[in-house]
Amino acid sequence: MKEIKTVLITGASSGLGEAFSHLLAQSFQQIILVARNEQTLLTLARELQKSYGVDVICWPHDLTSEEDLNALIHKIKSHKISLLINNAGEGVYGEFHQVAYERYHHLVELNISALTALNYAAIPEIIANHGMGIINIASLAALQPLPFMAVYTASKSYVLHLSAALNEEYSHSGISIMALCPGFIQTPFIAKAAINTQGFPLADPYSVAAQGWNAFIAKKSVYIPGRQNALLALLIRFTPRKLAAKIAFYLMRKRG
Ligand SMILES: NC(=O)c1ccc[n+]([C@@H]2O[C@H](COP(=O)([O-])OP(=O)(O)OC[C@H]3O[C@@H](n4cnc5c(N)ncnc54)[C@H](OP(=O)(O)O)[C@@H]3O)[C@@H](O)[C@H]2O)c1
Repeated sequence: MKEIKTVLITGASSGLGEAFSHLLAQSFQQIILVARNEQTLLTLARELQKSYGVDVICWPHDLTSEEDLNALIHKIKSHKISLLINNAGEGVYGEFHQVAYERYHHLVELNISALTALNYAAIPEIIANHGMGIINIASLAALQPLPFMAVYTASKSYVLHLSAALNEEYSHSGISIMALCPGFIQTPFIAKAAINTQGFPLADPYSVAAQGWNAFIAKKSVYIPGRQNALLALLIRFTPRKLAAKIAFYLMRKRG
């Protein structure tokens, strides 16, 4: 009997997660959608089933709730997952001490704690299932300090380094763990983070998902979609950190 290939996508209900859902519904047999809003997930599930004939499961969970996260981890262990996309994430813009601390706490719980717990739970399962691995969504902002988004960019640096280290640790296990580092993408994230992106190029989420997927297939451990972004990443690498932070300060101020 042919084995069912399953992908689990967190933050599947909008933006980049939704784009990954459409893309991978075309090549996987089963897709598990995770986000908080059940109605949005069910609407997307119907769309995917109708368009691609894929088997869709909706698991509405809040990844910042310990109870929900444990329930999700429990379910991961009883489903044969081949690929996990840790995409759910949030950003916050503002002068560091002017933002309510609870927002940072929430961001760290989602972008760092939940993502780490899901990597921890899924890696042994994916190896046992002879699966493909994990794509962790980081950001181009992971590559340098970004004033006014300091906590967000620090959280994404964590995701970048975690992924690159785990990819090496598990390279002999037949799985890949990749950090995808997009620049700004045209998604609801920007309005939720309350950032004015005027003057910055905004990528199409479907293009970012497709480039990210091709990079994962090519076994990259870190991937920056878009030529301009790749060039920027190269420049950042050769710019002293203090100077990079100063330039970013002028680019990022007054964007609230
Ligand atoms: N957009 C950009 O410019 C950009 C650039 C670089 C990297 N990224 C990264 O790309 C990833 C996807 O972001 P996006 O731009 O697609 O944002 P988005 O449109 O705001 O999507 C975020 C997704 O995460 C889900 N989510 C949020 N909080 C959650 C929670 N506590 N538990 C479970 N699910 C939760 C949301 O659904 P519910 O609200 O229903 O839970 C939604 O499906 C994020 O990691 C982000 O940091 C974005």
